[in-house]
Amino acid sequence: MVIRRMKTLQQTLAILKPDCVQKRAVGQVLARIEAADFRIKALRMIWLTRRMAGSFYAIHKDKPFYDELVSFMTEGPVVVAVLEKEDAVQAWRTLMGATDPSKAKPGTIRRDFADSVSRNIVHGSDSEENARQEVDFFFSRCEWAAEDYE
Ligand code: RTP
Ligand code: MG
Repeated sequence: MVIRRMKTLQQTLAILKPDCVQKRAVGQVLARIEAADFRIKALRMIWLTRRMAGSFYAIHKDKPFYDELVSFMTEGPVVVAVLEKEDAVQAWRTLMGATDPSKAKPGTIRRDFADSVSRNIVHGSDSEENARQEVDFFFSRCEWAAEDYE
């Protein structure tokens, strides 16, 4: 008897950071996301306020790079997206590559597009629970959970 694991779709939050928009790399990054078989469930461009960016990255508020991170995330518009795939949280982090682009594997988005650890092109949720919170931070359910998508 063959026992098949149930494939469960998962959502994660992606942010194409201000450096991605400035480099006009939004289209290329979205193309990589789709080529990797993610479904883009919701998508929006938004210019974050310092309060929004600070709140989103509140987990890092005691880190030495927090002020720099908030300044960077508010220096221009970002593109936020809900991505869906099996094991989406891990799959998106794998496609992004390591936080420091010089340590990211060849072929990853950060390796190919990012300049430095503090300007690293994309964000991805780091757990299923945080993904839910981060999706809720930017999108209301009616924007991404429509079942008539097909
Ligand atoms: P992200 O949250 O943006 O997806 O990045 P991550 O999980 O790979 O890395 P995390 O530790 O959560 O750090 C959040 C963001 O803070 C900036 N950072 N700068 N200067 C530094 O040493 C430093 N370390 C982190 C990066 O923009 C990182 O993505
Ligand atoms: Mg993180």
